[in-house]
Amino acid sequence: MATLWNSLQSQFLQQDFQEELSRWNRKRLAPNFPDELTAARFEADRRMQRLEHGFIEELRREVADEATEAPTDPDGFIEWFEELRNSGPGQQDRLFPWLADQASINDIRWFLGQEAAGEAGFDDLVAMTQVKLPDKAKLELARNYWDEMGRGNVRGMHGPMLGQLVDILGLDIRIERTVWESLALANAMTAMASSRFFAWHSVGALGVIELTAPARSAHTACALRRIGLTASQRRYFDLHAVLDIKHSRDWNDEAIKPLVAEDSRRAKAIAEGALIRLRCGERCFARYRAHFGLA
Ligand SMILES: [Fe+2]
Ligand SMILES: [Fe+2]
Repeated sequence: MATLWNSLQSQFLQQDFQEELSRWNRKRLAPNFPDELTAARFEADRRMQRLEHGFIEELRREVADEATEAPTDPDGFIEWFEELRNSGPGQQDRLFPWLADQASINDIRWFLGQEAAGEAGFDDLVAMTQVKLPDKAKLELARNYWDEMGRGNVRGMHGPMLGQLVDILGLDIRIERTVWESLALANAMTAMASSRFFAWHSVGALGVIELTAPARSAHTACALRRIGLTASQRRYFDLHAVLDIKHSRDWNDEAIKPLVAEDSRRAKAIAEGALIRLRCGERCFARYRAHFGLA
């Protein structure tokens, strides 16, 4: 109910706005030529940047109180952060056991289409976030990025691996076919990773993906196995069900902990980023359940 009320009240938690922001992100992050940078483009970019900022500030307000509860000492903070896996927003959602055990092929295809369309590209988010980070955290983001890149092997790259699944299942990942909750998740991740003012938020948001992805990936892998996909076809989810356990441990030890030890103000920013990401995910799961008629 609170979510419905928010979306009625908000100019940002809406289909039209999230589609516009998704199209702008696609355009602005694409490699381009100097003659594309016209006066009109400058103006349009400035307008969208302001709107994007309004959107992310609204998401911050939603989680601000909860984020102030996070301890600011490194050990206490990691303990708080890791507890998000159990009791954070959207965790233990009943959508996932249902997908694993009961959903039809078409339900699974619709779900994966939404998820793939709402995937902002973890590799690029990590790459944008690592700019000018302290050495220890930068190294951890580099190791994580290298895994995303299949350690230099094109067949092991995570992005194209998901792309293969999209092709195999013939998924529709057009922006206009994607629910705003899923677009908002990708747009929030992009907003945080692409602005240096939200760099610590992005470290938290990416870290909480690593923390919470294994359980969701394992359920999704079960669903894919149940509908008859081979091991190589469901590789993306089988891989993340296992690899992200290690990624999460390393991200927390090597990036979050030293960053908070160096400056305790970062704890609140990292906490906000993590909670923003989880709240966006929670809204997606509620929308997907509504689509499937699950209470
Ligand atoms: Fe990955
Ligand atoms: Fe990962």
